[in-house]
Amino acid sequence: MSRPATSPAIGWAAAVAAVCCLAATAAHGDDALPESLTGVKGDPARGRGIVASRQVGLCLLCHSGPFPEERFQGNLAPDLTGAGKRWSEGQLRFRMVDSSRLNPATIMPAYHVTSGLTRVAPAWRGKPVLSAQQIEDVVAFLMTLKD
Ligand code: HEC
Repeated sequence: MSRPATSPAIGWAAAVAAVCCLAATAAHGDDALPESLTGVKGDPARGRGIVASRQVGLCLLCHSGPFPEERFQGNLAPDLTGAGKRWSEGQLRFRMVDSSRLNPATIMPAYHVTSGLTRVAPAWRGKPVLSAQQIEDVVAFLMTLKD
């Protein structure tokens, strides 16, 4: 009885995949983007406005947080209270730009990605959901959520 001839090939493919993933992780600097996207300090007050807005950030569709004035808040995602204590600035930036790089199955939108998206209406093609400065504003706001 002969053994299936596929196993060495599978082993090789797994090894290649492992090397690719390690390289990708290293290139992204683990799970953080420590550098500002704009070089201009984010404005936490503007960031709060983006996060609470039903037209711009839509964060409260999924998240809840310290927004006593907002009646309906989401329960599909962690409460944002304390996010600035749980994560560094770079980790928050990474999650805002494209959290699918951490969790490919996430339902959280990639807020600052323009490539690799399909089925985008012509008016929106090439435009990220939030601009680089809006990302910086949101990150600056999240950093204030320390408790
Ligand atoms: C469609 C749902 C959805 C929307 C909209 C969304 N998120 Fe998330 N978010 C998630 C989920 C789910 C997680 C949990 C981790 C995961 O599954 O990727 C998460 C994780 C996070 C985290 C890390 C978790 C933590 O400990 O706080 C932060 C910070 C965050 N989101 C911020 C935001 C901000 C700011 C916005 C708006 C600009 C936003 N999210 C919009 C679903 C969403």
